[in-house]
Amino acid sequence: MSADWENKLYFGDNLDILREHVADESVDLIYLDPPFNSKATYNVLFREKNGTASHAQITAFEDFWEWDEEAARAFHEVVTRGPGKVADVLQALRGFLGSNDMMAYLTMMAIRLIELHRVLKPSGCVYLHCDSVASHYLKLVMDAVFGPRNFKNNIVWTYQKWGRVLKKALGYEYQDILFYGKSENAELIEYPTRAWESKEEYVRIRKQKVRSDEDGREYVLSDAGGGRRVKRFLDEAMEYGRPIGEVWDDIASLTSSAKERLSYPTQKPEALLERIIRASSNEGDLVLDPFCGCGTTVVVAERLHRLWIGIDITHLAIGLMRHRLKGAFGSQLSPYDVIGDPKDLESARALADENRFQFEWWALGLAEARPAHDKKKGADRGIDGVMSFRDDDSGEYRRVILQVKSGRVSSAHIRDLKGSLEREKAQIAALITLQEPTSPMKREAADAGFYDPPGLLPPVPRLQILTIEELLSGKKLELPISRDETFRKAPRQFKGKRQSSTLGR
Ligand SMILES: C[S@@+](CC[C@H](N)C(=O)[O-])C[C@H]1O[C@@H](n2cnc3c(N)ncnc32)[C@H](O)[C@@H]1O
Repeated sequence: MSADWENKLYFGDNLDILREHVADESVDLIYLDPPFNSKATYNVLFREKNGTASHAQITAFEDFWEWDEEAARAFHEVVTRGPGKVADVLQALRGFLGSNDMMAYLTMMAIRLIELHRVLKPSGCVYLHCDSVASHYLKLVMDAVFGPRNFKNNIVWTYQKWGRVLKKALGYEYQDILFYGKSENAELIEYPTRAWESKEEYVRIRKQKVRSDEDGREYVLSDAGGGRRVKRFLDEAMEYGRPIGEVWDDIASLTSSAKERLSYPTQKPEALLERIIRASSNEGDLVLDPFCGCGTTVVVAERLHRLWIGIDITHLAIGLMRHRLKGAFGSQLSPYDVIGDPKDLESARALADENRFQFEWWALGLAEARPAHDKKKGADRGIDGVMSFRDDDSGEYRRVILQVKSGRVSSAHIRDLKGSLEREKAQIAALITLQEPTSPMKREAADAGFYDPPGLLPPVPRLQILTIEELLSGKKLELPISRDETFRKAPRQFKGKRQSSTLGR
């Protein structure tokens, strides 16, 4: 990797991004956590600044797959132009499954896995996170793409969970991570271990007898191969830790009160990614997550001094990741590039024409606000986004409400926003507009007066208008103090050499 490499966050479909932007054999480690074909709609549940869960939900992504033209086209492409084994497996699966949603899912995965195989270095490894809904079919597809000889492990991540009593089957308590190398040369960099809980655990598992030498120091006799036994002091033997096999039962899933939780559905624990990244990469290696959601992989890669590429198909995820990275590393964050986000008025307009929700999420991200509710559920009460700030020591958060407009705007919008400001008992309201505001709009906004913060802080306009053009050129909303993170913030992390591990909680 060249010295002037910058980490990358791509907005877009990972198939296109991989094909257009990621070079052959350039990546050392891939972790992917695609939607599992769970037939669920995943919502983001936001938290208010006072820590309570707000009812504001927005749809993050949908995990539905259908056999449609896109799936049929991908199938045709793999079968006619893909590697022979992958074509064979897909055809056999279609013969068995038919043209249904599972087949659509496997086809969309297969075409992406072929690209991931291309970009992985021969010494690299891939970890595919899935669950038993599709893991057995995915194993066949992975064998076809990466080769059965390069299969290393089916890691079972089992998390402590209150077992639900179901009517027709047992409860689900684990997920699978299919671990492959690109070639037989792919080796583990750091074998995962965890601390022994106690001397008793060590003795019970190792089945070794503890002896004492003349100084009273405890030791065991370990097998050194060839029938030889070597003396090892117990404290030193325990220090290496307990090697971990395929069953990972020491990493809890994220509860709703977990510190690192950002309320993004399917968010994975950082400890899980830390184990994978340490096991299969060195500092300075390039880590890729093509389905990166709220960015667990990129945050851990950054903390462990790896280079990274993250890809996601929603502006919501990209916005969340920007906030998470900034919140976690502050000024220590390595420079990174966001690609696929509108960078000028023309591309902002194109995004607004293409998808109003994506435009809104992007515009709110640009203003450092978060979406307010599920627009798809039609709960629009005149607010698209919110933001919080504190301007005294009381611990109380003040609210800013935002409305985003991509079409024509008029004074009526300002009057509506003024109504929402009063109804919501917010301190400040802002209209973000793609079009230039008219003079009557500016007058109407000025008439709303000022918010007077406590103490000596200067007053700020209660109703503000910001154009997309102004936001793109770096202008910010006027607040009495610098804004707080508007998404629930992950704990700040400091990048240091080999920080103490978060494993084994
Ligand atoms: C299961 S979530 C990943 C969660 C992630 N591991 C985390 O810890 O936050 C899957 C993500 O894949 C994204 N996604 C789905 N299809 C995609 C595609 N074709 N290209 C890029 N991202 C996609 C979704 O938007 C979603 O954020």
